[in-house]
Amino acid sequence: MAMAAKPPLGWNSWNTFSHDINETLIKEAADAMVESGLKDAGYEYIVIDDCWSCRQRDENGRLVADPEKFPNGMKALADYIHSKGLKFGMYSCVGTRTCADYPGSFDYEFVDAETFAEWGVDYLKYDYCFKPRSADGPTLYRRMAMALRNSGRDILLSACNWGNDNTVDWIRSTGAHMYRSTGDIVDSWQSIKDIAVSQMEKQKFAGPYCFNDMDMLIVGMYGKSHNSWIARGGCTTEEYKTHFSLWAMMNSPLMIGCDIRSMNDDTKAILMNRDILAINQDVEARTPTVLKEWSEGADTAVTMFKPLENGDYAIGFFNFCDGDNGTHIQFSDMGLPTRGYGLQLYDLWEQKDLGVHTCKYSAALPAHGCLMVRAKVVKL
Ligand code: GLA
Repeated sequence: MAMAAKPPLGWNSWNTFSHDINETLIKEAADAMVESGLKDAGYEYIVIDDCWSCRQRDENGRLVADPEKFPNGMKALADYIHSKGLKFGMYSCVGTRTCADYPGSFDYEFVDAETFAEWGVDYLKYDYCFKPRSADGPTLYRRMAMALRNSGRDILLSACNWGNDNTVDWIRSTGAHMYRSTGDIVDSWQSIKDIAVSQMEKQKFAGPYCFNDMDMLIVGMYGKSHNSWIARGGCTTEEYKTHFSLWAMMNSPLMIGCDIRSMNDDTKAILMNRDILAINQDVEARTPTVLKEWSEGADTAVTMFKPLENGDYAIGFFNFCDGDNGTHIQFSDMGLPTRGYGLQLYDLWEQKDLGVHTCKYSAALPAHGCLMVRAKVVKL
């Protein structure tokens, strides 16, 4: 079955928990995914990242789940996750070891794909550490893609090589369904901004069946991570809103990284804003047009728009400045005739009608803030 027709939605253990994972936590995350309403909003994958296995393979060369962290094994955990109507994701690596020094899948691709299929895995995040220098990265992704496609189970391949070796040029051809093309996100505004700005030109390579993964969300972490390298003091709710809006607008998979067992109301409102999710999940996944206003030589504001399947347009206004800032869009840049037509605008965060406008719209934005609207073409 074809997978990733739309950007995948889910939760991943890494940003908050890193090495500190176990069966109880993953089950609680699955429970929270359902009870909080995230599942109803469309999130479906529960993904265990690095640090789940024993340090060595068994005598048959198989990967083994750490019996202390996962006493009932991965099959039982997969069954539990599936019983909640969710899908189960795991992690391995192209190289000889994973990034946190557990066994990698190099030269074991088909054996590991078989193991994952037996366990009931639906998604594999596939990292890029410890790649033998002589081995070719694209070939190694092709190898795992082939192994998964022939494992007897639908397993989504989530590549994670951080944009190395010009990922965008070859990743779609390997069979991967999504791919990281940046370094790791950390819980700070600077990280949100750096990733968003670095990915604007790369959007044209992403689309259905192979999306550009801008990395797992930091929405709702507020500086809480078991990994001090990721923690970094956290962000404000306003900044998390802008982060979520950018990832949605840019068609990124949305893999939640906070502790979904204890989200505050702001976090829930961000992650479950149906209107913003609809922009991300639009079936056509059009590349947004980016209009930059780098007027002062520094990052100031960006406006993005993209056509949606039903004839509407999504427009995002983003303020990267450290102070309040205005930005605007001229509708003629979107294709609107200068006479006879206007755009009816709806604010997706405030959930309010902004009226019909002709020619242009100017948005006043707080520092690091954004405005997300859905625009409908109207005849005047
Ligand atoms: C890399 C990846 C991260 C995470 C860690 C785990 O850094 O980019 O997303 O999976 O490895 O060790």
